[in-house]
Amino acid sequence: MIKYGFIGTGNMAQAIITGLLNKHVPANNIGVTSPRSAAKLAEKLGVVALSTQALIDESDMIILAFLPNQLENVTAQLDFKDKLVVSVLAGVTVAQLTATTGTTQVVRTLPNVNVAINLGVTAFSQTQLTSENSQAFQTFSTYLGEGVALDESQFSVFSAIAGSGPAYVFKFIDALAKAGVANGLEATLATKIATQTVLGSAETLAESSQTAEELQDLVASPGGSTRAGLDDFSDQNFDDIVLHAIKATIAHKHL
Ligand SMILES: NC(=O)c1ccc[n+]([C@@H]2O[C@H](COP(=O)([O-])OP(=O)(O)OC[C@H]3O[C@@H](n4cnc5c(N)ncnc54)[C@H](OP(=O)(O)O)[C@@H]3O)[C@@H](O)[C@H]2O)c1
Repeated sequence: MIKYGFIGTGNMAQAIITGLLNKHVPANNIGVTSPRSAAKLAEKLGVVALSTQALIDESDMIILAFLPNQLENVTAQLDFKDKLVVSVLAGVTVAQLTATTGTTQVVRTLPNVNVAINLGVTAFSQTQLTSENSQAFQTFSTYLGEGVALDESQFSVFSAIAGSGPAYVFKFIDALAKAGVANGLEATLATKIATQTVLGSAETLAESSQTAEELQDLVASPGGSTRAGLDDFSDQNFDDIVLHAIKATIAHKHL
């Protein structure tokens, strides 16, 4: 029996499938279809490759994971009956999903790459789901990390912070490591130190009752070296640089 059927097997589908397998969803409960790579992926992961209509017919939940501009093309010849359809297509609305798939059971989601290690944050907006589908989606979303119910008008800001955000965090880690190298650390070691520092700091913040701003003060004693660094960040308008980049991300149209 196929629980989760993926149409499209690219980066995001593979990240989600990895997350499901980590949570011990049996590989034969996962189905895939795509024009070129599905059979290869099925062989590699032990999941089941099917034709698209067979996948829909045999799956409890169908995950749309191809590129947004392919929506009309892919759905044109298919019959989704009234199956639960979960889309990860950036910029595609619930109304568009309902119109193209013809099902009333639709969830628009926006996951990020961290779903592969079950630490994603996934925004979702949905039609009125049956209680069975609602439960099925909740289980799926829990496997991936945190789920956040969000008004569709806020998906673009969510996308900038959570979808693109991992790239920006990698950029910060890279900058931190490069600063270490510029001051005499060996490159691999500098990256390891910067990565573990970000990982530990995020964990500390997640477990703390204090805000990120308050925790800065906890690390930076008055007149100390960390305060000197934080003051320099302020002098260079670090917050404005981040705000500017997020605005640029939001302003850019999804491809
Ligand atoms: N990557 C991210 O971090 C991220 C984050 C949030 C949302 N998303 C969304 O996730 C979706 C997929 O992105 P991606 O990065 O995974 O793209 P990708 O790596 O380029 O994968 C696209 C997939 O679509 C498949 N495909 C193409 N034509 C198809 C068809 N006619 N029927 C079925 N499948 C077809 C391709 O199959 P073949 O391999 O066989 O050619 C490929 O597996 C996009 O809508 C994007 O907006 C991605």
